[in-house]
Amino acid sequence: MNWKDIYKDRLVSAKEAVSNIKSGSRVVIGHAVGEPLALVDALVENKKYYDNLEIVHMVAMGKSEYVKPGMEKYFRHNALFVGNSTREAVNSGRADYTPGFFYEVPRLFKEGYLPVDVALIQVSVPDKHGYCSFGVSNDYTKPAADNAKLVIAEVNENMPRTLGDSFIHVSDIDYIVEASHPLIELQPSKIGDVEKAIGKYCASLIEDGSTLQLGIGAIPDAVLLFLKDKKDLGIHSEMISDGVVELVNDGVITNKKKAFHNGKIVVTFLMGTKKLYDFVNDNPMVESYPVSFVNDPETIMKNNDMISINSCIQVDLMGQICSESIGIKQISGVGGQVDFIRGTSMAKNGKAIIAMPSTAAKGKVSRIVPILDEGAAVTTSRNDVDYIITEYGIAHLKGKTLRDRAKDLIDIAHPDFREYLSEELKKRFR
Ligand code: COA
Repeated sequence: MNWKDIYKDRLVSAKEAVSNIKSGSRVVIGHAVGEPLALVDALVENKKYYDNLEIVHMVAMGKSEYVKPGMEKYFRHNALFVGNSTREAVNSGRADYTPGFFYEVPRLFKEGYLPVDVALIQVSVPDKHGYCSFGVSNDYTKPAADNAKLVIAEVNENMPRTLGDSFIHVSDIDYIVEASHPLIELQPSKIGDVEKAIGKYCASLIEDGSTLQLGIGAIPDAVLLFLKDKKDLGIHSEMISDGVVELVNDGVITNKKKAFHNGKIVVTFLMGTKKLYDFVNDNPMVESYPVSFVNDPETIMKNNDMISINSCIQVDLMGQICSESIGIKQISGVGGQVDFIRGTSMAKNGKAIIAMPSTAAKGKVSRIVPILDEGAAVTTSRNDVDYIITEYGIAHLKGKTLRDRAKDLIDIAHPDFREYLSEELKKRFR
């Protein structure tokens, strides 16, 4: 059978597709803005036929109805990252969180830790050879499909076609459901004075020809504002957002000085608006690979002048970084933070930056603290930490004693908390 006949043969409604999922199965849902919305809606609608269906997902950008109160009979959510729509469920015990480095998630699927029964994915329409692209979410989504017993794909005409190792052939999909809804969009963040000050300090460490990894949110967006005068920047990043498109159009990001994948933006997922999705569509400058490749520290280290910029919730005076919980309350997850801090630190002339406002909760608490809150997770250890940046400056901790780290961190704390932190410092180092 040629691929067009296979496609027609496997084309079903969303309802029919999800009726093939058996109770007790582990279902992995396509990541972030790549979530197959019609399939997830159909899954939730079909709930009375399921008992104890495990839903594995990471950044959940959809409605996440499967974690709502009352759904426990049908679904159990295993979160690989906690976000707005799943936080309450995880912290109240209706869902679970599994910690782990992002680059290792495909191993969990492949090596028997989390065998995948069903992959629910969203892909582009097939090309003339019958290949659909994973588009905005390659990350763990392609590895989930590669390792699943059953692959159900939503083929969306709005999914861009990203190049790289980002394809699945129609013959490897068991059920196909057609959709034409717009992709989920993430609007650019509001950037205030604090973020601008942080962005400026971060940009001061970025030399012409550097390769960047940027996370999501106001701080990475603010950094991009201060890069307009730089030359020949490159991108090797877990994800990119709209700001990168502007810098490509302005000729700032050329990828020409990249030591690895020269000339290419390398990513594993995308999160932005239609502007970004149109930019990446069939664009030979952009290559998408599974997260097991992009985020592997051994891949990242092949870039020269690598700069990673991520954020956190708390830093203690030793430089231990908590990025994912407030005390025992799970706020997010490790994501690719440690993958990039390690890979960047191993790269020639790499700089691994953690950038954060000096305070949280409307200025009431300092993010620089003597001791992390009880129960807080150490996301990045004091052995891995490199640069910390707040709106008050830059603390370069690598290679420094605990005493000097503490002093440098107090210098970039909010002035309202410096005296208190200094008193705490004296208790530890007389
Ligand atoms: N004490 C009390 N509350 C705190 C706090 C602290 N130390 N730090 C943050 N908060 C509160 C904030 O006030 C905010 O509350 P609000 O929503 O009521 O305003 C909330 O926690 C979120 O904090 P904020 O810093 O605004 O979040 P953010 O959107 O900038 O994300 C991280 C910051 C750390 C959660 C996010 O970067 C993350 O998840 N990092 C780990 C994953 C990662 O680095 N991935 C790699 C790149 S994608």
